[in-house]
Amino acid sequence: MVYVTRRAQFSASHRLHNPKLSEEENRRIYDKCNNPSGHGHNYDVEVTVAGEPDPETGMVIDLKLLKRLIHEYVIEQLDHKHLNYDVDFMRDVIPTAENIAIKIWERLEPHIENGKLYSVKLFESQNNYVDYRGQ
Ligand code: NI
Repeated sequence: MVYVTRRAQFSASHRLHNPKLSEEENRRIYDKCNNPSGHGHNYDVEVTVAGEPDPETGMVIDLKLLKRLIHEYVIEQLDHKHLNYDVDFMRDVIPTAENIAIKIWERLEPHIENGKLYSVKLFESQNNYVDYRGQ
């Protein structure tokens, strides 16, 4: 098995807030990330596809294709958006790094035909990232 990874970047803003909780509970849980006007991040996303190299092409997945899929289904939807308001597929979740990674997985997975989607890593800052593997 070979693991092939493509990295991409997007910038987006969000506010961590659970409408089912009180203002006070939201502030306690999310602290500065609950600021009413939101804040931004420069996100890095790493998408890894696992598989065996095709005997004819020598490739698990064409990285040009993977680049295009990430651009079309993820970056164009999220870049320079407010994740609480502007993105249809983010409407039903609190836009934590965890939930963004899950949504990116759900966007990409149906389109990966060569190899299998193995992981989506989402870096929210230099020191924080989450890694989703589909379950
Ligand atoms: Ni944040």
